[in-house]
Amino acid sequence: MLDEHWRQLFGHAEEWIKEAGKLIKQSFQNEITIQFKTNFSDLVTNIDKQVEQFLTSNIHKAYPDHRVLGEEGFGDFIESSEGTVWIIDPIDGTTNFVNQQRHFAISVAIYHHGAGKIGMIYDVVADEFYHCLKGEGAYLNGVKLPQLKEKKLSQSLIGLNATWVTKNRRIDPAVLAPLVNAARGIRSYGSAAIEIAYVASGRLDGYISMRLSPWDFAAGMLLIDEVGGKITRINGESINLFEQNSVFVANPFIHEEILHNFILPKFDKK
Ligand code: IPD
Ligand code: CA
Ligand code: CA
Ligand code: CA
Repeated sequence: MLDEHWRQLFGHAEEWIKEAGKLIKQSFQNEITIQFKTNFSDLVTNIDKQVEQFLTSNIHKAYPDHRVLGEEGFGDFIESSEGTVWIIDPIDGTTNFVNQQRHFAISVAIYHHGAGKIGMIYDVVADEFYHCLKGEGAYLNGVKLPQLKEKKLSQSLIGLNATWVTKNRRIDPAVLAPLVNAARGIRSYGSAAIEIAYVASGRLDGYISMRLSPWDFAAGMLLIDEVGGKITRINGESINLFEQNSVFVANPFIHEEILHNFILPKFDKK
């Protein structure tokens, strides 16, 4: 069990995340500023920035020796995993935030010397707060999530963006296309953090993305660990926390089935 220090940290983090959620909801009444980052579908708004600044300044004020890795760059320059590092995605699913005003989350993970301690994902509009403290199980709105149970792919829902079964730079569409037919269904929610939290809570049985950044999966990875799920790169290798990775997360039974029957036979290690 984690000691009092981590419980206190969790208490603060939950409070700040819920406050940030209010700030985001209030923004629905106002005009927001949208900018493009790398291309027309890569968006950032003044609210993404405000939320990251809000969380970062609270962390720095309360814990001056902690460092922050945030998507929008208001955190610190992180070169190593030393000390306590918060990994923050202020709005995961910015496109959903802009176009739908729902299906986006605040994702916050706390690591200490590279080891995961606390993971939190808050689906703001659904008011669903997922959290875990290392070794103590994962929770959705305070209710403990059960360990993932045995399942077959034919009974499973898999989260997958259609991009990965069309022509793209990262994977041959023929690798994942048969999976689309073999699963009970495919879903695409547009927020990696929510999709990973859905795997942890059994709403999805797997989720695959060919390119995610640390802030997309850092909290989700910890939730998955607590419910006995498996998270790797697409080829089954370990994820590097501080790099962009392909991410293949699933119920352990489904992970095995997909890796051995669909991916490895067709996929040369990248
Ligand atoms: C994005 C979302 C999306 C995923 C992208 C991410 P953002 O995060 O998680 O579902 O497909 O790869 O970049 O930019 O909305 O925080
Ligand atoms: Ca983004
Ligand atoms: Ca994200
Ligand atoms: Ca984001």
